[in-house]
Amino acid sequence: MTVNELRSKYLEFFRQRGHRVIPSVSLVPENDPTTLFVSSGMQPLLPYFLGIPHPMGSRVTNSQKSLRTQDIEEVGDNRHTTFFEMLGNWSFGDYFKAEQLPWFFEFLTDVVGLDPARLYVTTFIGDESLGIPRDTGSAEIWKKLFSSKGVEAKDVALGSEENGGTKGMQGGRIFYYDAKKNWWSRAGAPSLMPAGEPGGPDSEVFYDFDPTGVMHDVKFGKECHPNCDCGRFMEIGNSVFMEYIKKEDGSFEPLPNKNVDFGGGLERIAAAREGGGDVFLLDAFTPLISVLEKAGTKKYKEATKSFRVVLDHIRAATFMLGDGVTPSNTERGYIARRLIRRAVRHVDVLGAPQGTLALLATAVIEYFKEHYPELKSAETIIQENINIEEDKFRKTLTQGMREFEKLSKEGPLRGEDAFTLFTTFGFPFEVTEELAKERGLAFDSAGFKQKMEEHQKLSRAGAAQKFAGGLADHSEQTVRYHTTHHILLKALQVVLGPEVHQRGSNITSERLRIDFSYPTKMTPEQKAEVEKIVNEKIAEKLPVMRTVMPKGEAEKFGAEHEFGVKYPEMVSVYSVGPKGAVEGNPQIESAFSIEFCGGPHVNNTQEIGDNGRIFKIQKEEAVASGVRRIKAVLV
Ligand code: ALA
Repeated sequence: MTVNELRSKYLEFFRQRGHRVIPSVSLVPENDPTTLFVSSGMQPLLPYFLGIPHPMGSRVTNSQKSLRTQDIEEVGDNRHTTFFEMLGNWSFGDYFKAEQLPWFFEFLTDVVGLDPARLYVTTFIGDESLGIPRDTGSAEIWKKLFSSKGVEAKDVALGSEENGGTKGMQGGRIFYYDAKKNWWSRAGAPSLMPAGEPGGPDSEVFYDFDPTGVMHDVKFGKECHPNCDCGRFMEIGNSVFMEYIKKEDGSFEPLPNKNVDFGGGLERIAAAREGGGDVFLLDAFTPLISVLEKAGTKKYKEATKSFRVVLDHIRAATFMLGDGVTPSNTERGYIARRLIRRAVRHVDVLGAPQGTLALLATAVIEYFKEHYPELKSAETIIQENINIEEDKFRKTLTQGMREFEKLSKEGPLRGEDAFTLFTTFGFPFEVTEELAKERGLAFDSAGFKQKMEEHQKLSRAGAAQKFAGGLADHSEQTVRYHTTHHILLKALQVVLGPEVHQRGSNITSERLRIDFSYPTKMTPEQKAEVEKIVNEKIAEKLPVMRTVMPKGEAEKFGAEHEFGVKYPEMVSVYSVGPKGAVEGNPQIESAFSIEFCGGPHVNNTQEIGDNGRIFKIQKEEAVASGVRRIKAVLV
């Protein structure tokens, strides 16, 4: 069964069970600045879990293009890919566990043909402190399902992952784990969820590639268990029972509806069926392997890791460019750039000539064009962007390599050396790090990071310009709104309370929009008070400073996070005020507002008020339960 066939069979299976097939949305989220890429099928469906009716009804299904950038470093094993398709089926207050689990089991065993004895499942152990019970309901359903296939299914309570590593399988088939493993929300475990966020217990299905257990490596824990990382088990699907919402006081309350959010890895299911478990050997990738073997000097078996990096990265880049991303130095463009450039490095390892990446992109488009026609329409743009980026990078590489060779002759690589390579030659830090590793050369990466930090502090103006080159809209008016947005969020916290946090934002040159957590409608007095504070801060002519610092330090200052964003070790924060803040001494501890942010911003709040502009709230309304929206203008 091909990957394309498997996708069709899944959609057809759920269509026959009353689901409407909805299209995959773009990888670039719409009106959701909290995340760079869509990374799960439920992401664009959030409002419907909160009770707003879905236009297609209460049962929908699709295969959603998804991208997880935190997986970039993991690419190279047999299962991790940055781009993947997530099979999804959803119930918005319609069916629940008693339908979901049997359907997925039937799909896996009867349609895909997996051996039920190779399947293991996990469920939520419960959490007394939250008043959320153990999910015995799911376990009972699983017992019946396995028994119907003549497979014994004992349940075992493991609790934490660490317990699993100590206690092992214990002859179990159904395993109870804690919220770290068997609870799902966009933010993760219950403690990490902000107020207003929906989530719930989940039940995952794992495929066993090694029933003898010989594959287990004690470096992952003394004993093997379904959530062990040794490679014996692979998660292939997750049924989330979205039935709770977190409240302001940290407690959990049932949602108006009991929902199902299922997500399954299309290629992982296919790889389980093929037995070998290598997703890169599926028919969606083999045409690419042929192109690469022909173009270069190595076979897949000889240089598996480089093959996998190239295959994964070029496919992800093709889909990203197909959804309108252009390689650049910021945000999504930066991810596209990083993927293409890393692919170039590994194409070189494989001895394939310049231009091979564009050939591979063609192979990706050919395979996926029927289900994703947007790829075919964007083919020329995709090809052009890949070729331009490869060309740019090769020029950089030639220069940088020359320099690297010189530096590496002088012994261990200092942080300063990598810094020079980066700033003077545009040689990516990751490449320096990888090259040093390949050559067995000691490399002071902490020293590099420190140099970077100093550099960023000094070149604030330069950095602002770099951002100006990257962000989509950076007209003066948009920048004014961006800074106003920071002031407004803080003013809302002053007036409504510190529990107010941003849930979304959208800024154009005409207006700003902010979504924030707050349970009730604002009174006219509260709105007037917020307007007054914002206008005061504009009139006070406060300096706006950008500072680069370690993430932990920014958190100590109480900097506002952008919801749902994972931050790197070093972050840039913007502070508004106090009055005497200057470059080199930003006095962050007494700033009016401080936020994790890439910018750009005005240098002083007086620029917002140029020509007598004042801040006005146009509209305040509900967007979802516990989330309000303000539209505001500078007039
Ligand atoms: N939303 C769930 C996940 O991403 C299904 O795992």
